[in-house]
Amino acid sequence: MELHNDLADKTIVITGATAGIGRAALHALASRGANVIGVGRSADRCQQAKQAVLAEFPAARIVFVVADLSSQQQVRDLASEITRLVGEIGGGKIDALINNAGTVSSWYVATADGYELQFAVNHLAPFLLTHELLSLLEQAPSGRVVTVSSGSHYKAEIHWDDVMYRKGYGCLKVYMQSKLANILFSAELNRRLGAGSSVHAYAVDPGLVNTEIGFKGTSGIEKWVWRRRKKKGVSPEQAAETLIFLAVDPSVNGSGDVYWKECQPKVPSADALNEDEAARLWALSERLCGIIWG
Ligand SMILES: NC(=O)c1ccc[n+]([C@@H]2O[C@H](COP(=O)([O-])OP(=O)(O)OC[C@H]3O[C@@H](n4cnc5c(N)ncnc54)[C@H](OP(=O)(O)O)[C@@H]3O)[C@@H](O)[C@H]2O)c1
Repeated sequence: MELHNDLADKTIVITGATAGIGRAALHALASRGANVIGVGRSADRCQQAKQAVLAEFPAARIVFVVADLSSQQQVRDLASEITRLVGEIGGGKIDALINNAGTVSSWYVATADGYELQFAVNHLAPFLLTHELLSLLEQAPSGRVVTVSSGSHYKAEIHWDDVMYRKGYGCLKVYMQSKLANILFSAELNRRLGAGSSVHAYAVDPGLVNTEIGFKGTSGIEKWVWRRRKKKGVSPEQAAETLIFLAVDPSVNGSGDVYWKECQPKVPSADALNEDEAARLWALSERLCGIIWG
């Protein structure tokens, strides 16, 4: 099929583009002619996702970079490779960074950096990757940082005494904390960039989505629950619509709303809008990533 080409001037980076919502977003963005840089942790799955788009849209512009986002060194190497690619094929700018990759884990798993896996992949990786790519987002007329959160954040709090849950680990509460962190990060990024910035950050609740996320890194009981629950979810294609809307739609320009569902702004939890919590999480994230955001 022919490309629609209405996004031919856009360069978009999307993590977790090998499955579920991210793969659906990659497909839709590439079909509209965007220059898409997908990120996945498995070279085989990256190749499969790319070939699936090219089979339908032979002229699609997709490159994949392989990175395990649980490793901060790999996040830094990923950012360097994206920077090189954007210089070569992306017109020296990134119009949107979609921080979509996410994981769950039934067990406490320590990353190569010694951090808890869900906190590292779901929060610290978007924090660090956005930091590393911000100057390229600032080259775009309206740079967007879209981070995929979840409605589960409403029941969450940041567990300040032990943010990595080294004691009292529980799959769901650790996941929900990371999804609250996604909104705190987006809101604080907007505050730090200031009202005059060309870059804006948004967090998305994709709703319940029929993907395989609950089958990866989970125990038998969680797999059992997810097998039943996911059937009630919307398709990844439907969930991807809000990510795409926030990444490219001109009507979003200037919106002060940070949290979105079904292409509409939504009020997140009071904790998610707490500026003290956001500043505290920001400072902790800087320390855990070994960076100082200018
Ligand atoms: N499904 C839902 O109901 C739901 C609801 C609310 C929020 N969300 C959020 O939506 C986002 C996408 O989830 P999904 O449901 O589409 O899940 P999914 O189908 O499992 O896709 C997750 C993506 O992230 C990638 N990924 C996981 N760990 C990674 C790592 N360490 N390094 C690099 N990539 C990694 C996966 O790679 P592989 O292909 O190699 O596994 C995959 O591409 C997540 O942030 C999730 O928290 C989902």
